[in-house]
Amino acid sequence: MALRARTRLLLAALAGAVVLLLPGGAVEARVLLSLDDFGAVGDGIANDTQAFVDAWKSACATGGTTYLNVPAGRSYQIWPVTLAGPCRGEIKLLISGNIIAPEDPEEWWDGDQGRWLHFRGVGDLSLSGGGIVDGRGQQWWAGSCEDENCTTYRPYDVAPMALHFEGCRDVSVKGITVQNGQRQHLVFTRCHDVEANYLRVTSPEYSPGTVGVLVVSSTDVHIKHDLFSVGGDCVSIVGNSSDIRVKAVSCGPGLGISIGGLGENQSNDRIHKIKMDTMLLSNTKNGVRIKTYKNGCGFARKVKFAHIMMRNVANPIVIDQHCYSASNSNRGTPCGTRWRWRRSST
Ligand SMILES: *[C@@H]1O[C@H](CO)[C@@H](O)[C@H](O)[C@H]1NC(C)=O
Ligand SMILES: *[C@@H]1O[C@H](CO)[C@@H](O)[C@H](O)[C@H]1NC(C)=O
Ligand SMILES: *[C@@H]1O[C@H](CO)[C@@H](O)[C@H](O)[C@H]1NC(C)=O
Ligand SMILES: *[C@@H]1O[C@H](CO)[C@@H](O)[C@H](O)[C@H]1NC(C)=O
Repeated sequence: MALRARTRLLLAALAGAVVLLLPGGAVEARVLLSLDDFGAVGDGIANDTQAFVDAWKSACATGGTTYLNVPAGRSYQIWPVTLAGPCRGEIKLLISGNIIAPEDPEEWWDGDQGRWLHFRGVGDLSLSGGGIVDGRGQQWWAGSCEDENCTTYRPYDVAPMALHFEGCRDVSVKGITVQNGQRQHLVFTRCHDVEANYLRVTSPEYSPGTVGVLVVSSTDVHIKHDLFSVGGDCVSIVGNSSDIRVKAVSCGPGLGISIGGLGENQSNDRIHKIKMDTMLLSNTKNGVRIKTYKNGCGFARKVKFAHIMMRNVANPIVIDQHCYSASNSNRGTPCGTRWRWRRSST
């Protein structure tokens, strides 16, 4: 069985291999793979997880540039997976069709750690193709702690991140729709050189805590030409993050744009060089916000907001150094460093 699967994998890889002869005699391999080559069904009902994992493994083991296609006009149901690197070459995941999550939160009970599509330790990765990644989060929202007793489902604190990139470098997510996320739609944790452009990220206004893009301890992140319409923050930046550029973004409904909460559990969070401009916020609770926990350490420096148009925004500019004051998480002695604000121009 294992042997057969491996043979099929190899055959699929060979079938898709195209060798391009470049001027000067250089040879660059370009491999074209499709999920269907690996036995995916794409009817929205079947479990296509194994096909996706096999296709990823094949793509990851191939040098040069590998295009992995999620064919248009079909829906591939994928259970929580980790797609790990490092890979031998560059991977271009072309999402032309739909990738959908199982709807029932019960499916997440074992071993997933709050993630759905988890890319870890990958360099040179791009997602594009005009298709849809659908977290189908309705049951997660219904079962969240904000309106129930958290007895039916897991508390929404551990609801999965839809697309989670962890420890990745040179990641581009471009021209796709990410919708109905169980909680965060896109998360970049300890990533460097990230582009998140031309995205449509949507969940209904009543989906509690659904975040558009969450940036955690990442550097050189560009979030441009995107439309966010969610229940929580459109863009949120936490941890040690720097050189973050947000431009030409439309946000609303939702909670707005947020830097922080920084300094949870007296952590030392250092945020610097954040520039956000040319944005439209409409029908949001907040506009632009910087929030820190009481007794946290670190700083937020060189933060610039410019050319932001707000329409029907309840709290346009918020700087809150005691957010979550009801929380128990920052008990104990304050840390030595005090928060310092510099050049927070608006
Ligand atoms: C779907 O397939 C994956 C990979 O084989 C497996 O881990 C998961 O348990 C399957 N889900 C169901 C509900 O069968
Ligand atoms: C939540 O718990 C309280 C106290 O146990 C109970 O009175 C209430 O009915 C519960 N609500 C729901 C929606 O289960
Ligand atoms: C941020 O950097 C500081 C100083 O290097 C470190 O103490 C802290 O643990 C880092 N925080 C995170 C969330 O990585
Ligand atoms: C802070 O502590 C609480 C309680 O121990 C924990 O649930 C939470 O994840 C911690 N947060 C961070 C950012 O470490």
